[in-house]
Formats: sequence, C-alpha cells, structure tokens
Amino acid sequence: MLKRSWFPDILIGDRVVLRRHVSGNLAAFMRWYADPEVSRLTRYQDGPMARPEIERFFQARVLGSDSLAMAIHERATDRLLGTCAFSQLDGENGSALFHITIGEKDAWGKGFGTEATRLMVEHAFERLQLHRIGLSVFAFNERAIRSYRRAGFVIEGRAREAIRRDGRWWDEVEMSILDSDWRAQLAAASAAARAGAGGAGAAAPDEEAPLTDPATGRPADTPSIERIH
Ligand SMILES: CC(C)(COP(=O)(O)OP(=O)(O)OC[C@H]1O[C@@H](n2cnc3c(N)ncnc32)[C@H](O)[C@@H]1OP(=O)(O)O)[C@@H](O)C(=O)NCCC(=O)NCCS
Repeated sequence: MLKRSWFPDILIGDRVVLRRHVSGNLAAFMRWYADPEVSRLTRYQDGPMARPEIERFFQARVLGSDSLAMAIHERATDRLLGTCAFSQLDGENGSALFHITIGEKDAWGKGFGTEATRLMVEHAFERLQLHRIGLSVFAFNERAIRSYRRAGFVIEGRAREAIRRDGRWWDEVEMSILDSDWRAQLAAASAAARAGAGGAGAAAPDEEAPLTDPATGRPADTPSIERIH
C-alpha cells in the first residue's frame, strides 16, 4: 500500500497536466488496452487484454494504492491522453519502476510522453526523495526508448531475447535514472540558462515529507494482475 501523501495532487507541465485518475477513466482504458498496437508495445502476451483483466488492472493499479498512477491530460484542452505510474515503490532502497502509456495514438510523437515522464521523475527525486527509477522496454519500441533517453534515462542492460513478437525474439531493454543524473541535468540546464542559451531553470525543491517508511514502502504483491509496461 502506498501512502496517500506520496501522491501529488497535480503536476503541471507546459503541455501536459498530471492528475489522479477518476473512475470515469475506465472507459478510456478499455479502449486503449483493447488496441492491438498499444498491446504490442506494452504487453508480454500477444494480443490485447480481456475486458475483465483491464478492469482488475484499473481498480488495483490505477485507482487503487498498489501504484502511484497519474492521468496524463493535454494542458491546452484537458483531454485525457494516457496514464503513467510508479510501481514497486521501495522506501528502504529509494527505488521505483516507471510505466507510461499514451493511449490516444494520435497524440504519439508530440512530446507529451517525454514531458509526463519528466514530471514524474521530478516528483520522485524532488518530493519523494527517491534514489533510482528503473523501467524496462521492448527493444522494438524505439519511440519509447528515445523518449526515455530524452527524459534522462540511460540503458543499463538488456534481458536477451526476453520477448517473442512478430515471429522473432527481441531483447528487453533495462533503463534507469538516478537522482545524481537528475541533478546533473538540472545543473546543466541552469548553466545553459546562465550562458544565455535559454532553457528552463531548475525547479525549487518541494518541502513535502520525504519517502522514509520502509515498512510500508513496497506495495502488496498482486500476482493475479498482469504485468505490463
Ligand atoms: C512511449 C510513449 C510514452 C512516448 O511518448 P510520446 O509522447 O509518443 O513521445 P515523445 O513525442 O515525447 O518522444 C518520442 C521520441 O521518439 C521519436 N519518435 C517518434 N516516433 C517515432 C517512431 N515511430 N520511431 C522511432 N522514434 C520515434 C521522436 O522524435 C522523439 O524523439 P526525440 O525527442 O529524440 O526527437 C508513447 O508513445 C506511448 O505511450 N506509446 C504506446 C505505449 C508504450 O509504448 N509505452 C511504453 C512502454 S515501455
């Protein structure tokens, strides 16, 4: 179970706003995860999730407190575009796993995912005071890998031929970002700003209480709910 205080009310970027999910978002999840292309990029099994599975996933991992899930809305229109989350928040080791799906396919490749990822990373390092965020991504998902790199993640390894898709084996790419990487990015951005090259300055750290309780830091295991990216 995650603590309520770990959830931000809202994270505001230039182009996206992240808010807590509401139950009415289930209809969008049903549409997104029934889509073969979204499934191909996010799911270990071939083919879309069944509706009851999507509903279980939504209740436990999206509305529930198994994960720190946030809805991604386009800032200009408030349109719901997708979802992102930290799972396996581990207070003792200061780590979490990151997941993101922009379910509205016409919104792919427009910078929304990278900005949402940055907002979550900032929340993790500035407010939760995590040390490390990991993720895994199928090697054929080049858009996601580029977006994660842009947000500061680095490739740290590969699970060789971990996924069978399109009649062949693909590696699963493991990526991560450390708080030191994040702080180096901020320092570089403010140095660039000082040098007159533009770019945003560093955001001021938030005062909210850090993630410190190892006893409740890890969400309950829910093996009946499938693992997706
Ligand atoms: C992965 C995802 C979150 C990225 O968000 P996004 O808003 O589409 O991506 P962005 O526009 O922020 O960045 C995409 C990057 O990939 C590049 N790109 C866009 N389309 C691409 C394509 N078809 N192939 C390769 N690269 C592509 C863009 O140029 C950009 O890189 P750059 O900033 O270096 O130029 C989003 O596409 C998504 O949710 N996809 C479906 C589900 C998924 O794959 N989730 C991740 C599972 S690990």
